[in-house]
Amino acid sequence: MWKFKYKYHHLPQPFKCTHHISFSLTSQYIHIYTLLLMAVIFSKIGILGGGISGLAAAKQLAEYNPVVLEATDSIGGVWKHCSFRTTKLQTPRCDYEFSDYPWPLRDNSSFPSYTEILEYLNSYATHFDLFKFIKFNSRVVEIKLATHDHKSSSNLLSQKPFWEVAVQTIDASIQWYSFEFIVVCMGKYGDIPIIPKFGKKKGPEVFKGKVMHSQEYSKLNAEESCQLLKGKKVVVVGYKKSAIDLAVECAQANQGEEGKPCTMVVRTSHWIVPHYSIWGLPFYLFYSTRFSQFLHQRPNQGTLRTMLCTLLSPARKATSKMIESYLLWKLPLVKYGLKPDHPFEEDYASCQMAILPESFFPEADKGRINFKRASSWWFWEDGVAFDDGTKIEADLVILATGFDGKKKLRAVLPQPFSAFLEFPSGIMPLYRGTINPYIPNMAFMGYVESVSNLHTSEIRCKWLARLIGGKFKLPSMEKMVEQIKTEAEIMKKTTRFYKRTCISTFSINHSDEICEEMGWTSWRKKTWLAEAFSPYNSQDYQQQDDDDDETN
Ligand SMILES: Cc1cc2nc3c(=O)[nH]c(=O)nc-3n(C[C@H](O)[C@H](O)[C@H](O)COP(=O)(O)OP(=O)(O)OC[C@H]3O[C@@H](n4cnc5c(N)ncnc54)[C@H](O)[C@@H]3O)c2cc1C
Ligand SMILES: *[C@@H]1O[C@H](CO)[C@@H](O)[C@H](O)[C@H]1NC(C)=O
Ligand SMILES: *[C@@H]1O[C@H](CO)[C@@H](O)[C@H](O)[C@H]1NC(C)=O
Repeated sequence: MWKFKYKYHHLPQPFKCTHHISFSLTSQYIHIYTLLLMAVIFSKIGILGGGISGLAAAKQLAEYNPVVLEATDSIGGVWKHCSFRTTKLQTPRCDYEFSDYPWPLRDNSSFPSYTEILEYLNSYATHFDLFKFIKFNSRVVEIKLATHDHKSSSNLLSQKPFWEVAVQTIDASIQWYSFEFIVVCMGKYGDIPIIPKFGKKKGPEVFKGKVMHSQEYSKLNAEESCQLLKGKKVVVVGYKKSAIDLAVECAQANQGEEGKPCTMVVRTSHWIVPHYSIWGLPFYLFYSTRFSQFLHQRPNQGTLRTMLCTLLSPARKATSKMIESYLLWKLPLVKYGLKPDHPFEEDYASCQMAILPESFFPEADKGRINFKRASSWWFWEDGVAFDDGTKIEADLVILATGFDGKKKLRAVLPQPFSAFLEFPSGIMPLYRGTINPYIPNMAFMGYVESVSNLHTSEIRCKWLARLIGGKFKLPSMEKMVEQIKTEAEIMKKTTRFYKRTCISTFSINHSDEICEEMGWTSWRKKTWLAEAFSPYNSQDYQQQDDDDDETN
């Protein structure tokens, strides 16, 4: 199904012939080079990254003895490397849970801190003996096609290397690995920060104070971060989860007489939610049940459903408005000029809904957090300036401006494949959030998000394990592309932030389809009442008995 010849027929026109020659030459060269210089380590499956997605993949693909290549010296990904002293999970813990490994206090409604998440992940990895697969301090720096007669490989695991992977180890030497199949779990966040661009004499070079990205800040320990912020005029650029946490840490470090206020520079305001309860109703009722998702558009709906969805659009708007009205009543959004310009639903549908730290607005009320709405800003000698002509002074500017996950992928994937990361519609084309139809023998985990990325990565890894095990086959390339297109259309219709690729408003249908392909029943509740009105989470997707029988 993933024959190389077949792939080439379907490469889009501009990529057709030219690359064929150039990359067979390079890979041949590499092959000879590696044969001459060092032993290549071979394994059927390579997993790149040891975050949540990499761990889930290692667990589900354990029977193949995968090699997990992790750049740093620990597991956990963003929870280890993008977390601050006060970072907490934003998903209720019973949703952010491996289906076969419940949280110790799963009914505790408090949000676990990042250290609790790391403990949970460590005990998961220990319990399922995953550490034996992981090679730490192993940064993937390059991926190449291995040379062999690709035409002869007819199944996913063909006993032949397909990819060669260059790994930089701690002493900076390069070790080559070769794999038949690669699962890319390098994460959307972390590693490559997005740094805003400035005009001439408007960049950090003219600023006398210090500038850093939130990534650099997250490397500091509690004491260092407190020392850094204490008594300083801090500007935090951004208004997403990291920026909000940062502002709170800044306010906490600036209690007392000498404390200075922190200013958040907000370009786009987003809806933030204090807790999972709206006018006394549990939040899951609005988006996470089959009934609530019935109101929403979903991929592959026929004309009838499209009409129905149009009829139901007032109901969707009313839900969104009801949540907005609660948030406007509960939080001083109007007072601080933070009322977003877009409906709540658009933040939810793009996986951007952040949970508000309790002390955020109390600190703002005490004057320790200020807000500045601005569509553009730049540096001057003593601080930052805005497009409305105002200026503020600053000693330290922290950029919570996010990360470039695609650049991270482009840096390691060879041409022509790296050109397909956003082909054809500007968003990552991933069938079932996993398979790029234009890239053979490779899967991607953790790039199409949901409100519980752990759950989504795990169920997709189960699906992938069965795909690799030959339990079912992928549909034709045309069908995969069709499915991807219809998902992209739905995202575009639902939210202006569709480029973030998020499935939250049709997550149950997404899981249904995955179940169907795996041969599992997709309606997994005991009663129809529960089916309609109770939320779906990992526990609903525990190993199915008949599936076990099949493998025995
Ligand atoms: C501050 C913050 C809060 C979040 N809160 C939530 C939440 O509440 N709920 C939720 O569902 N999601 C949340 N997320 C999203 C989060 O990204 C996912 O939940 C999940 O942790 C992603 O896991 P991952 O394994 O896909 O990626 P990552 O955690 O990013 O892991 C990627 C791993 O790959 C490694 N790596 C990268 N490049 C290379 C390379 N070249 N070679 C080898 N290894 C490499 C990295 O070192 C890292 O260990 C949050 C994200 C952030 C940043
Ligand atoms: C819930 O967990 C928090 C830590 O995350 C802890 O402080 C609290 O005591 C727990 N509550 C119960 C009832 O166990
Ligand atoms: C997902 O939704 C589409 C559109 O309504 C529907 O055609 C499809 O059957 C659903 N998938 C499953 C497995 O129920």
